[in-house]
Amino acid sequence: MKTKLIAPSLLSADFGNLQREIEMLNNSQADWFHVDVMDGRFVPNISFGFPVMKTIQQHAKKFIDVHLMIVEPEKYVEEFIELGADLVSVHYEACVHLHRTINLIQSKGAKAGVVLNPATPVLMLEDIIADVDLVLLMSVNPGFGGQKFIENTYKKISETKDLILSNNSTALIEVDGGVNLDNAGKLFDAGADVLVAGNTVFSSQDPERTIELLKL
Ligand code: DX5
Ligand code: ZN
Repeated sequence: MKTKLIAPSLLSADFGNLQREIEMLNNSQADWFHVDVMDGRFVPNISFGFPVMKTIQQHAKKFIDVHLMIVEPEKYVEEFIELGADLVSVHYEACVHLHRTINLIQSKGAKAGVVLNPATPVLMLEDIIADVDLVLLMSVNPGFGGQKFIENTYKKISETKDLILSNNSTALIEVDGGVNLDNAGKLFDAGADVLVAGNTVFSSQDPERTIELLKL
C-alpha cells in the first residue's frame, strides 16, 4: 500500500492563534503535525522550544513529528517525548553518536528519524538504515520556511528507497522544504511517504482545501 501523508509545519502557523491553527489541522485531512525546533546554532534561526511544544501537546489530536535542528539533540529528546512527540528526528550532521541517539529515542517509546541536509549523501545512512523508523530528506537548507525546492531531492528519494529495500528496512521517507501543489504528486510518485508543507498550507486562502489537494 502506498502511504501519502501530509505533515503541515507549524513553523508557518500564526503563533498568536496557535490553538486555532492546531484545531484547523485537527479538523483537516492532515496526518501529522510537523514541529520545527531551531536553536540558532545548528541552523541560523531560532524557532521555539518546550513551552510551545506543551501547547501543541495540549491541543493536537494527531501524530506529532518533531524535527530537531539543534546541536547535541541527545540532551533534549527525552523532554520532547515527555511533551508528546511520537517521532523525533535528529540530523545526521548534528550527531556524533547517531546510533546511540536513535536507540535513546526508541527506548523512550518514540519513533526515531534521521535527517539529511541537501549536501549530505544518502550513502552515509548505510549503517543506520536498519535501525531508523524514518529518513527525512531536506529539500531546502534547514532554517527557514518558504524557500525554493532543491530538485536533486528526487535523486535522493530514489537512492533512499534502494537503500531501504536492500536492507529490509521499514523506514518511511519524508521530504521537507519547498513542497507545493506542483511537486507534491511527483514526490509521492518518486517514493516519498510523508510530505512536510509549511508555507504552501498556511499562506493559502483555504489551508484545509490545500491539504486535500496536496494528497491528490
Ligand atoms: C525548514 C523546516 C521546514 C519548513 C518547511 O528548516 O525544517 O519544516 O518549515 O517550510 P516550507 O514548506 O515553507 O518550505
Ligand atoms: Zn522541518
